[in-house]
Amino acid sequence: MRSSILPALAAMAVTAEAAKAYIPSVWNNTAPAIHTQLVQAKNGFFEVGGVADGICQDYNPGCPSANSTIISGPVSSKYDGNKTTDFWLGITDPKGQQIYVYDQKLMYTLPRTNVVSGPEGNAINGPFSVDYDDLAQGTVLRFQGNDWAACKTFNVRQGIRTIVQPLVYGSSLWENAFGWECTPFKMTLEETDAPAVDHYRRDCPFQWLNTSPELCMGQTWGLVNADGSCVAPA
Ligand SMILES: *[C@@H]1O[C@H](CO)[C@@H](O)[C@H](O)[C@H]1NC(C)=O
Ligand SMILES: *[C@@H]1O[C@H](CO)[C@@H](O)[C@H](O)[C@H]1NC(C)=O
Ligand SMILES: *[C@@H]1O[C@H](CO)[C@@H](O)[C@H](O)[C@H]1NC(C)=O
Repeated sequence: MRSSILPALAAMAVTAEAAKAYIPSVWNNTAPAIHTQLVQAKNGFFEVGGVADGICQDYNPGCPSANSTIISGPVSSKYDGNKTTDFWLGITDPKGQQIYVYDQKLMYTLPRTNVVSGPEGNAINGPFSVDYDDLAQGTVLRFQGNDWAACKTFNVRQGIRTIVQPLVYGSSLWENAFGWECTPFKMTLEETDAPAVDHYRRDCPFQWLNTSPELCMGQTWGLVNADGSCVAPA
């Protein structure tokens, strides 16, 4: 087993016993359009299908996991070390990239920072948990004890994407604000010892350059809106 996946977590004085590296995918055997598709980290969001935005280490430009998503946890909570409820991307960059929910979407932090949500605040870090699911007959990831929804979303530049949202947000079942279709699913986790990428791409939101430029340090600069769509070049 390669030990390179967890250095970011080890640096945070995590209790290592329960944390494992996993590749997440969709389980819903009555929804063939999404069943068994991979859950992929893409520019700050988790999308159903396609390939991940993994960025290789400088010394290893052809790294084999660049197209796949490795997540790692559960580890000690950033805000309550007594709880083992946080999940991170499995990367080798020591700053790590934490997984969280913001604005009803599953997201991950900017690379090369330890900032969760930036100036917008109110990110929800968990609790995430790993359970055995009787229906899927496998290991699954849950958020606040619940499963997930795959929701279609649209913007002009990226077209239609299917992004991952918590099935239950607060006390209510999520309904997509624009009436795009959401399909509930269980997120199955397959243990992996694949080598980790350096980090996963997430471009700094355009407005943060003005409000909090320090958040955008140390990463590839891209012009994107808060919803992940690109800003037209001037
Ligand atoms: C990632 O690339 C490898 C070959 O480099 C391929 O075997 C694998 O199927 C790809 N995975 C995805 C999710 O596209
Ligand atoms: C964590 O546990 C310790 C020892 O039981 C306790 O003193 C501390 O208040 C707990 N912290 C939180 C945030 O609950
Ligand atoms: C699968 O999707 C259907 C809708 O297509 C939904 O009714 C059902 O609850 C989902 N199953 C799971 C296990 O999430």
